[in-house]
Amino acid sequence: MSGLSRGLSRRLVLGSAVALAACEGRAKSQPALAPPLLKSLKDSATFPVGTCVQVSHLDQPLWVQLARAQCSQLTPEWEMKMEYILQPDGTYRFDRPDRIAAFAKANGQRLYCTTLVWYAQKPDAFVKLDESRVNFASAFDNYITTVVGRYRGQAVGWDVVNEAVAEDGEGWRQSLWADKLGDFDHMRRAFDLAKAADPHAVLFINDYNLESLPKKFDTFQRLVERLLKAGAPVGGLGCQSHLAADLPGGAMTRTLQALARFGLPIHVSELDVSLSRVERRFAPRAELERGQAALYTETAEAFAGLPEAQRFALTLWGLRDKDSWLRGENAADAPAPFNDDGWPKDAAHALSDGLSAGLYGNAKPRR
Ligand code: XIL
Repeated sequence: MSGLSRGLSRRLVLGSAVALAACEGRAKSQPALAPPLLKSLKDSATFPVGTCVQVSHLDQPLWVQLARAQCSQLTPEWEMKMEYILQPDGTYRFDRPDRIAAFAKANGQRLYCTTLVWYAQKPDAFVKLDESRVNFASAFDNYITTVVGRYRGQAVGWDVVNEAVAEDGEGWRQSLWADKLGDFDHMRRAFDLAKAADPHAVLFINDYNLESLPKKFDTFQRLVERLLKAGAPVGGLGCQSHLAADLPGGAMTRTLQALARFGLPIHVSELDVSLSRVERRFAPRAELERGQAALYTETAEAFAGLPEAQRFALTLWGLRDKDSWLRGENAADAPAPFNDDGWPKDAAHALSDGLSAGLYGNAKPRR
């Protein structure tokens, strides 16, 4: 996008920004709301573009406007995980996930759901079950059946197994689920149960650092092969894509092309580009920001270059910097395409350019 058209798009949206800020009783001198890009992300792409969302966002008019303008899909960031749904006494609560699902429906956005089996979650309700494998298994089965069943007909997909591969790529992770139900069997079981509960949702296995740790990527691919060989209804592959701004160019493209060899739909499921989680800690900020923009373009373009049936969606793990989970790790990080006020950063324009590459047919050639 030229500097002129960017300037124009910013000016074009400023009027509505000020108007809405005034409606909210904000002083004009305060940062105004999120201006949509001249061409929104969702309109730039030939596939769904999503973001994660928390219920608290739904009460923020600026976030709502930004998400409606830019995104065609929503993933609850944490309120559809066990950490929210499953209470210590074993009962379930669905108020917040239901609210997100209703918001998506009201706005014509697809609902993507995460996550059913995750080593990182060790809920009291399961920990305190007695040693009987039967009790544990029936609680596990009931959780998956109930939660997946609740969003049947609306959910387009589920992360069934999240982050199963060990950090160093040496086999699979230990977890409560692996301990009680078997390191392979608990995954197989989760896929079967999810399939029975919602035959139309695409069921994903999802992991991170696939683009930066070759051994981990290799183990991930072997696991997918094994699940498929065992007949598990794995319907898609999730590449979280929590990238560092100094990730060398080409890695994301190679990773998505290698994943495409399975022939399954692919979800870039949690894209962000950290300025803090970098190896080159003393690199100038401006240089890292250029790296960030380039990675947003490369990821979108490589995704747009996949065969059409395999482009499930590209999801951002936070629209604005201040929404990002990485802020909790480093308050100076700015990993999202939009700044704290919702204005598009260079990263947003870069992302839009990468997405448009697919629209105009000049995305990277297919293999
Ligand atoms: C994170 C969310 O961003 C946080 O809000 C939540 O408290 C913990 O989970 N990989 C994943 C995501 O699969 O589910 C994580 O999301 C980020 C890393």
